[in-house]
Amino acid sequence: MDSKSRVKAQLRRWKEEERQRFFRLTRAILLNWRILLLFCGHFTVQAAKCPQECFCVQLTVTCVNKNLTQVPPAVDERTVKLDLQGNDLQELPTGAFMHTPYLTHLSLQRCNIHKVKEGAFRGLGRLVFLNLTNNNIDILHQESFDGLFLLKRLIIDRNRVKEIQPGAFSQLGSLNLLSLSHNQLVYIPNMAFQGLQSIKRIRLSYNFLIYLDTEAFVELVNLKRLNLSRNPILCICYLRPLREWAIRNEVNLMGTCGGPSHLSGESLDAVHPSDLRCQSEEEEAAGITPRPTEEPNKVKCPANCVCEGLQSIKRLRLSSNFLIYLDTEAFVELLNLKRLNLSRNPILCICYLRPLREWAIHNKVKLMGTCGGPSHPSGESLDAVHPSDLRCQSEEEETAGITPRPTEEPNKVKCPANCVCEGLQSIKRLRLSYNFLIYLDTEAFVELLNLKRLNLSRNPILCICCLRPLREWAIHNKVKLVGTCGGPSHLSGESLDAVHPPKLRCQSTEEEAARITP
Ligand SMILES: *[C@@H]1O[C@H](CO)[C@@H](O)[C@H](O)[C@H]1NC(C)=O
Ligand SMILES: *[C@@H]1O[C@H](CO)[C@@H](O)[C@H](O)[C@H]1NC(C)=O
Ligand SMILES: *[C@@H]1O[C@H](CO)[C@@H](O)[C@H](O)[C@H]1NC(C)=O
Ligand SMILES: *[C@@H]1O[C@H](CO)[C@@H](O)[C@H](O)[C@H]1NC(C)=O
Ligand SMILES: *[C@@H]1O[C@H](CO)[C@@H](O)[C@H](O)[C@H]1NC(C)=O
Repeated sequence: MDSKSRVKAQLRRWKEEERQRFFRLTRAILLNWRILLLFCGHFTVQAAKCPQECFCVQLTVTCVNKNLTQVPPAVDERTVKLDLQGNDLQELPTGAFMHTPYLTHLSLQRCNIHKVKEGAFRGLGRLVFLNLTNNNIDILHQESFDGLFLLKRLIIDRNRVKEIQPGAFSQLGSLNLLSLSHNQLVYIPNMAFQGLQSIKRIRLSYNFLIYLDTEAFVELVNLKRLNLSRNPILCICYLRPLREWAIRNEVNLMGTCGGPSHLSGESLDAVHPSDLRCQSEEEEAAGITPRPTEEPNKVKCPANCVCEGLQSIKRLRLSSNFLIYLDTEAFVELLNLKRLNLSRNPILCICYLRPLREWAIHNKVKLMGTCGGPSHPSGESLDAVHPSDLRCQSEEEETAGITPRPTEEPNKVKCPANCVCEGLQSIKRLRLSYNFLIYLDTEAFVELLNLKRLNLSRNPILCICCLRPLREWAIHNKVKLVGTCGGPSHLSGESLDAVHPPKLRCQSTEEEAARITP
């Protein structure tokens, strides 16, 4: 006999006893019935399955800090609130919650989740709140959140999200709030927020966003607030379309410019679009390049180019710009492209460049130009970089969870990119002010044995972990660094010579102590 039928039999027995008593003493019976009803109510809920490790009250099931390695299968089907904080789930498989279709609230904080498989939440058509804070999720896959048609709030703070695949949120048509604070986003792909037609607030604070493309936001007609605080946003011409779009649509942009230095610390909501430029006012007045595109919503032709008969283009030169990152999307229509010249751009050879590199290999497109950073493939030809080398941390670090460290072999000759160098050994002072230097490789300077002063003023230097080797080298060799941090915002404006190396990090002190991210 299962527990349900046992309870039923028990109830039948009680009812029988009650009936007999009824004929004897009406008042007592009435009283007893009331007690019985109370018991019945209690018993049906208790009879509802409650996993051994959990605590169940009504339709709320709590299984907190139990080291569970899977979603407990014996949860009652009618459960509406499920709290699984502090377990060890690792991976959420497809259909992980199929047996609890009535859930409205699901708490999955601190569950060591690193992967959410496609369709993991399938069947949760009534869920309105999902909290995934403090996990290790790095990629939001295309179908990770499928089936959550009524979800209103999705919280993915304090994970390692570095990639949002196009369409990851495409079924979240009811979502009001999306929170992705304290992650590792360097860029937002154009299709990232596709389908979020009800979204009102997006939080992207504490990421590594330098630039944002308006394209990613234009379809979010209900958006009221975009929180970009604590990102090293580069307030140059490329940000102008976003700023103009925000003004037109009354979207509140929270956060400050991370650079260039004359704007750093300025509120994004206060910056006038005409101040977002890639050249001085005089240059702009004189009509010198580059200018933002007029219609940012139809960018298929790369920014600042005039494109006709795209399909027939065989060679495209985008050299000598400030391109840090390129989205493959911009090039897929150029079916006949054979050569893409990206020379003299500070291309960041990290994980975000991988799709472009793979696309180039697959379509036999020759990429001209070199990596502008980070240090290990810096100077390497774009055409020679293997896609698997385009990562956001080293293989060992990736597994061990360590922050980038100074290079072991800083003793090779290298003249800084774009410079002619002679008699390097005797140089005492080097001025590189007024450039668009975001990142500097120590290797470029180690040969300058007599260097006493390196002037980096008026550059949007990003004071994050990647700058630490240079700072340590400068301290060790008593080289004075002139200039200030262009970002991230909490360090922006700080003198390069005053920044203590441990402050140059890619995560917060707490995260570093807890060894959460990179
Ligand atoms: C969970 O695992 C940790 C570490 O292994 C242990 O200290 C703790 O007692 C476990 N908690 C439970 C509820 O089993
Ligand atoms: C999500 O969980 C975190 C960590 O437990 C908590 O601090 C935060 O308030 C929760 N978010 C919401 C919107 O309830
Ligand atoms: C924006 O994000 C920052 C950092 O997470 C937070 O302190 C601030 O309150 C947020 N602003 C709003 C209006 O939500
Ligand atoms: C690529 O662009 C650079 C700079 O504009 C130019 O010097 C070089 O010749 C170009 N390379 C090719 C193969 O077109
Ligand atoms: C550094 O360069 C800036 C701009 O070129 C200049 O104004 C400043 O005097 C230089 N500082 C030093 C210490 O050389």
